[in-house]
This record gives sequence, C-alpha cells and structure tokens, in this order.
Amino acid sequence: MEDPAINLSSKTDLSVLATEESSPILEIWGKQPLKGDVKISGAKNSALAIMAGTLLCSDECRLTNVPSLADVNSMIKILSALGVKIKQDGDILDIDGRNIGHSQAPYELVSQLRASFFVIGPLLARLGSTIVPLPGGCAIGTRPVDIHVRGLQALGADVHIEHGMVHASVKGYQGRLKGAKIYLDYPSVGATETIMMAATLAIGETVIENAAQEPEIIDLADFCRSMGAKIRGAGTNTITIIGVDRLHSTDFPIIADRIEAGTFLVAGAITYSEITVSNVVPDHLIPIIAKLKEVGVKVVEDSPSCLRVIPGELTATDITTLPYPGFPTDMQAQFMALLTLAQGSSIVTETVFENRLRHVAELKRMGAHIRLKDNHAIVTGVPFLSGAPVMATDLRASAALVIAGLAAQGKTIVQGLHHLDRGYENIETKLQKLGAKLHRVTQPTVEQILQTSVCV
Ligand code: UD1
Repeated sequence: MEDPAINLSSKTDLSVLATEESSPILEIWGKQPLKGDVKISGAKNSALAIMAGTLLCSDECRLTNVPSLADVNSMIKILSALGVKIKQDGDILDIDGRNIGHSQAPYELVSQLRASFFVIGPLLARLGSTIVPLPGGCAIGTRPVDIHVRGLQALGADVHIEHGMVHASVKGYQGRLKGAKIYLDYPSVGATETIMMAATLAIGETVIENAAQEPEIIDLADFCRSMGAKIRGAGTNTITIIGVDRLHSTDFPIIADRIEAGTFLVAGAITYSEITVSNVVPDHLIPIIAKLKEVGVKVVEDSPSCLRVIPGELTATDITTLPYPGFPTDMQAQFMALLTLAQGSSIVTETVFENRLRHVAELKRMGAHIRLKDNHAIVTGVPFLSGAPVMATDLRASAALVIAGLAAQGKTIVQGLHHLDRGYENIETKLQKLGAKLHRVTQPTVEQILQTSVCV
C-alpha cells in the first residue's frame, strides 16, 4: 500500500492545503529576554459565572472589565438565545434580561462551553422551570454535574435527565425554591456557583457547607450582593444565603484574572526576565507565588495591584493541585513547563481533573524529561528545551506550550490555538510588548502545515 504522506507530496498540489480553513498557528522564536509591564485582563471564570448570574436580575446590568475571549462570546450567544439583549462596547457589557424569552438553553451552544451549564440555577430561580442540555465531557475529564443537580434538588427542585437534557422545575411555593442546608461532597466551583445563585431568590435561608472558596466565588457573591442579594461567608467553606423576592440593576467590575497573572509570572521566570504584572490582586496568587519562591523565583509587591517577578536559578519542587487555597489546577500545565528547566526532579500531582496531563507528551517533544505514572508527572530538569511543532490539547496546556516556546532554543510552532483564544485576551500582543518574538499565522503555508501535521 502506498504511504499517504508520500502520495500527498508527490502527486498533489500542496497549495490546496493552505486554504482559508487552515487553522492558525503561533510561531515563537525562543530565548528572547522579556522586559516591561503587562496589564492583566478581567477573570474569565468570574465573567462567565457572573454573566449567567445576570439572568437573576429583573433589571438591566452593566459589567465592566469583561475580557474579550471566545468563551465570553459563547456565553453572549447563549444569553442572547434565551432572549437577553446584550450590547458590547470594549470591556463593557450591557445586559438586559428583563424579558427572558426562552427557558431552554440550546444544545449546540451549551455543548461548546461547559460553563454555560451555570445558567441552570438562575433560570430555575427566576422562571421556576428550565431545560439545559448536559454539558458533556471535555478534554480534561468527564466533568459530571451531579453535585449541581443534588444541590438544586435539595432546594426543592424536581430535576430529571431525559435524552441528555436536564429538566428542572419547582412545583410548590408559587414556583420558588426553598432554602436548605446543603453539604457538598466536593467543593466544586461550578456547583457552589449554581446553588448560590439559585438560593438568592429562594424562600428562606440556604447554607452551603464544604463550599468552594475560589476568588471567583467571592466575585460572584459580591455581584449578587450588588443586586440586593443577601449572602455571607463567600470565600470560606460555609456560605449562607437568605433569599430575597427580586434582584435589581447593578454596575459591576469583574476581578482580575489570577490565572492569566500566574501565567505571565511563570513566563518571566522561565525566560529569566524581570517583568511586572499589573492590575492583579496579589492575595489571589498566594499559592502560585509560594511555589515560585520554592523554585528560586522572587515575586515582590510593587504596589497593591502590581507584582514584579525577579528571576533566579530554577530548582525542582513538587506541586499538588487542590481546590483553593491549594495550588490551582489551572496553573499546573504552565508550572510544569517551568519545572522542565529546574535543576533536579519534581513531582506534579493532578488531583482535580482525571485527564489533565496531556501536555506532557507535547513538552517531551520539546526535549523535556517527564515520566507519567497515574496522575503524577515526574519531571527531571533538562539544561534546555528545543523548539518543535506542538499541539495544544486544552486551554491551559496551550499556555504551557507558549511559555515553553518562549524559553526554547529555535522555533516552536503551536497548533490548536482555539484553546488559547478561549482564555487569554490578546496574549500575542501582550507578549510582543514585553519583547517576545512570536506571531500568529492565520493562513499557514504548506511548509508550516506539514511541519505541524506530524503531531495532529
Ligand atoms: C471551574 C473552572 C475551571 C477550574 C475548576 C477547578 C470555570 C468556568 N471553570 O470549573 O477553570 O479548573 O473550576 O478549579 O469556573 N465534579 C463532579 N461533579 C460535579 C461537579 C464537579 O464530580 O457536579 C468534579 C469535576 O469533574 C472535577 C472536580 O469536581 O473533577 C472539580 O470541578 P469543579 O470545581 O466543579 O470545576 P468547574 O466548575 O467545572
């Protein structure tokens, strides 16, 4: 049988491959020192939950510091499909959900964005019934929604799953949920958000025990409070919500993205560059800063919203991902990129998601020395990484590959940029301003396609 690769190059006009549908790629020339200041955007995960939360409001809402991201665009489409009117002007979103037209979220959109399942709590609380498709699994794991469902059931909702759709409705109390004491089996971020939002309009008091404590939970609670909700304890493991009859208009700024900030701190560390990361909340970065210190990198607070990374010789350390305030799973891949160049052996243990080590194979393509055993990656530092064509497997893995490319010798080509665009606003421009040499090729040449296709 003919080798298809040989067939392709010998008989086909290769230019047909470089069509408009070719996926963009990122070309990075590593080993450029970085310098200067980077301004961090609004937090993706906060923005997505809060956008869902606007469904609770019977008036118009304004959100500011909303990052321009593919995931935010997906959430805009979902809210629009529900009949919400949205105007976008830079980082400002004006959201008018006074007349929600539908209570059923469309499958095509929910399947693209897991966070869109978060509309279930607000829709149920506001309308008394809703149908939301199961979000399905994703690249990093199966990601069930059983904790969300049990929480809504505890609030008095009838929830059943039919043909992949979650049907939720409230029968008694004139269609209103009823407060309850709810213990979460696991401090799930999404489930805490779903239950907290649903409880804001319930009758009586809800107490969520073993709640997630992430900064995005506090931001969502602050947003709900700015609309008149009564919530206390957000940011601790016990959140108490006293339901109110309605929520009113608000103008609310989204907090800074701690994961984007952490990603840039690691970019400074891996390129041995002193850079400043501004518009951040240093307290949200405590676990990341602590681990950077362990590997030999100092992070100083120049002002209450400004951190400067002072690089140093990298030494190995161990990382275990955990719910906040533990080390964030969303920084695991980027930190692993850093550890590939740290002297000694590090063990990276992923405990939050079951399939979040797929970047290991790609980092190995760049010369990293990593062994996988169950949910552990044993990383032995190498003197240098080499540029290579690599494929992003999920959002944070894509950032890890970009970071590795910044430190590598020669040219790295990152494919699968739709992952990167989900969570990093203008990452190339921000890195270019810091002095990195990289650019996006929207229509790769045949040579570039063939270079990257080895890892497809
Ligand atoms: C959120 C973040 C994501 C981050 C994660 C953990 C958003 C939009 N995404 O995701 O970036 O990586 O928190 O910090 O905010 N689980 C269940 N049943 C459930 C819910 C969760 O078993 O009903 C499991 C998940 O499969 C996962 C673990 O709990 O293994 C953590 O998930 P969770 O905290 O819910 O993360 P998300 O809210 O999906």
